Amino acid sequence: MNRPVLEGLRLNTPAYVKHARLINWVAEVAALTEAQEVYWCDGSQAEYDRLCAQLVKAGTFKKLNPELRPNSYLACSDPSDVARVEDRTYICSKKKEDAGPTNNWMDPAEMRALLQTGPNALFRGSMRGRTLYVVPFSMGPLGSPIAHIGVELSDSPYVAVNMRIMTRMGRAVLDVLGEDGDFVPCVHTVGAPIEPGQKDVSWPCNKTKYIVHYPETHEIWSYGSGYGGNALLGKKCFALRIASTMGRDQGWLAEHMLVLGVQSPDGRKHHVAAAFPSACGKTNFAMLIPPSGFEGWKVTTIGDDIAWIKPGKDGRLYAINPEAGYFGVAPGTNDKTNPNCMASLKRDVIFTNVALTDDGDVWWEGMTDVPPAHCIDWQGKDWTPAIAKETGAKAAHPNARFTVAATNNPVLDPEWDNPAGVAIDAFIFGGRRSTTVPLVTEARNWVEGVYMAATMGSETTAAAAGQQGVVRRDPFAMLPFAGYNMSDYFQHWLDLGKKLEAGGARLPKIYCVNWFRKGADGKFVWPGYGENMRVLKWMLERVEGRAQGAEHVFGVSPRYEDLQWNGLDFSPAQYDSVIGIDKAAWQQELKLHAELFQQLAFHLPADLTATKARIEERLAA
Ligand code: GTP
Ligand code: SPV
Ligand code: MN
Repeated sequence: MNRPVLEGLRLNTPAYVKHARLINWVAEVAALTEAQEVYWCDGSQAEYDRLCAQLVKAGTFKKLNPELRPNSYLACSDPSDVARVEDRTYICSKKKEDAGPTNNWMDPAEMRALLQTGPNALFRGSMRGRTLYVVPFSMGPLGSPIAHIGVELSDSPYVAVNMRIMTRMGRAVLDVLGEDGDFVPCVHTVGAPIEPGQKDVSWPCNKTKYIVHYPETHEIWSYGSGYGGNALLGKKCFALRIASTMGRDQGWLAEHMLVLGVQSPDGRKHHVAAAFPSACGKTNFAMLIPPSGFEGWKVTTIGDDIAWIKPGKDGRLYAINPEAGYFGVAPGTNDKTNPNCMASLKRDVIFTNVALTDDGDVWWEGMTDVPPAHCIDWQGKDWTPAIAKETGAKAAHPNARFTVAATNNPVLDPEWDNPAGVAIDAFIFGGRRSTTVPLVTEARNWVEGVYMAATMGSETTAAAAGQQGVVRRDPFAMLPFAGYNMSDYFQHWLDLGKKLEAGGARLPKIYCVNWFRKGADGKFVWPGYGENMRVLKWMLERVEGRAQGAEHVFGVSPRYEDLQWNGLDFSPAQYDSVIGIDKAAWQQELKLHAELFQQLAFHLPADLTATKARIEERLAA
């Protein structure tokens, strides 16, 4: 085979790489970015250990105390690079209307000029002085018919080691790819070339950031950030934005959903998929431990963030988790709220932007009732409870995260890796709402469920840069992740439901939940976490046709007596305050639905406007 050699640069292509198109593309990107060196990741443990040691030497990683946290590291990012940057994220479809009004759009030719081809193209020379890592990865079980392969070219070794945990990464992927297999090309640079004699920083990045998707050619180009979804391109960029367009074209769904299994004491097993916006409880729900009073119930994790869902031959919907690890929110995670998560984090973890304790372990807000007397905060400064009280300084960044393999999870579902996926019995949609939205509502039918999901609102969180705590519409928890026009996405859901129903299938039930209503004291009324099992049980018994509820304007909700309360002290009055429907608040809420529908008027499905009209009628009655 003809192996390209660039002047002054060896591609270092291993003999096992047989894919000419891939090799040529690597050569092109290496030439464009002027990378100093190319390194092909094989995905081995030895390679992981070597790259981690290199990151320690570079100051990006601190190795944690091996007695307290074996084989684990802490990375602290540049303070300007701490979360996804939604206002810098682009969907560059040929036509603007295909990106839709909720996405940033630029003409693909214009964007290519800006990034790749123009005289001052940002990627030109962007990897100078750095190694280009070739990171082959599979989203979904290797070789599975539902899985898809990507190759990320990145100048960040931090990205390479995180990708090894988050995906099936390395040589085995190239073996599956063979000589001519399809892959999604993903190019990532931190945008910080090192000039001769210049010393590198511990977290290189650039003030200018572009997270760019070309949905028609299935390409991803990411510039300037090293953090999370901006840089680990298999996750939001591929598994949601690009995959959602693949799903639209091929008749399946790529969703911002956890997937879990629930087994009742008599051995019946169900699976649910739940979409909550970023930092609204997916990882926690996916690892839920049934509370006291629920002995014999078991919840197991299939996935905690993303689901690929395809119709099976039997007309049911089957979900796989395309990821292999969790990139989860640290703050608020503790042994009481999520013991399974804490157990997952005992070893082999990469922590990002949490605090370092004096004995070389990690800490974050909410990890323990009593904070450590002293630690080094995520920005490298001394932190004590007194300093925190005085200045409000957080030890960990609110979007601090852990990266850990799914196989560390003690309640990993035995089917998590099954290429066929698991059959979904119910979809759950939920936002973070201090008011208005009740604890749980069952949609009367698929269309009303799609309406609920489409009009969902949620208070913004630290997972994305920008103001926090502001209610915004976040349809299907996909506002930042839909790779195409949101109204077309609604239509895709409606069409899929119609098609499956026409084939005689019983569709999954659809629910809307809200764990986050607050009382007059500003505190959450619903205890949440493990106690969410009470709501989950009701939903599944509804699926089985065994539980009761009361019908209201929006659907069906459980009355106090319809939920199982043993083991929890929660009064009917407290329950009223989380389940009640305030007519005036909902009239205001419907105005926000109207605003959303106005914004999405182009291609908005008539079924949804009709549903809105029916709800308004019922509300006025
Ligand atoms: P992403 O990874 O950003 O997509 O987030 P996620 O949806 O997986 O959210 P996660 O489970 O990490 O929870 C985010 C925050 O919400 C954490 O601080 C949790 O402690 C908190 N949280 C999760 N579930 C509940 C709940 O049932 N009630 C309350 N009050 N807080 C919760
Ligand atoms: C989210 O923001 O929904 C995440 C974290 O899961 S990130 O990978 O940074 O997108
Ligand atoms: Mn997420």
